[in-house]
Amino acid sequence: MKHRALTLACAVTLTGAAWAETAPEAVSYDYGAVAESLSGAPGDPEAGRAVMVSRGLGNCIACHEVTALSDAPFHGEVGPMLDGAADRWTEAELRGIVANAKMMFDGTMMPAFYKTSGYIRPGDAFTGKAATEPLPPLLTAQQIEDVVAYLLTLKE
Ligand code: HEC
Repeated sequence: MKHRALTLACAVTLTGAAWAETAPEAVSYDYGAVAESLSGAPGDPEAGRAVMVSRGLGNCIACHEVTALSDAPFHGEVGPMLDGAADRWTEAELRGIVANAKMMFDGTMMPAFYKTSGYIRPGDAFTGKAATEPLPPLLTAQQIEDVVAYLLTLKE
């Protein structure tokens, strides 16, 4: 149910934002980094924070610990701690990592949040049925930008 609502929301956003948005299959990666805003608009760090802690959206904290998000439950340690991420990576690198971490970290288990095709075995986790590509991206272009804006606040 939640998945269906999310899919609908994505479809609406994608059709509604015909402006400067870059489609998932059109993103160009330069050594894993993406220079241009995917939505054509700046990100909102507060909205990005919400995406990061939301289980139905980024759920980044299932794998990453972030001290500034320690009020949110279920922190995991599969991925590195994100404190100081903005000191380690540029904005373009962070955008590339969030959009498709596989471009930066070969074979990583971090999901590609802005990708619609090229899955090895696409499936709907909720029904267990095989899904057909293109699949809706896990996050919209603007949600990626919002998350990047939030990550840029993580300085040590
Ligand atoms: C399934 C676990 C998982 C999820 C979910 C996940 N990541 Fe990751 N992430 C990783 C792993 C593992 C790495 C380390 C890269 C590697 O595989 O070498 C990583 C690396 C990173 C890095 C670089 C780390 C650094 O500071 O050097 C950033 C930034 C990052 N992730 C952001 C995010 C954001 C933002 C989200 C949510 C939108 C997210 N991750 C969701 C597993 C995950």
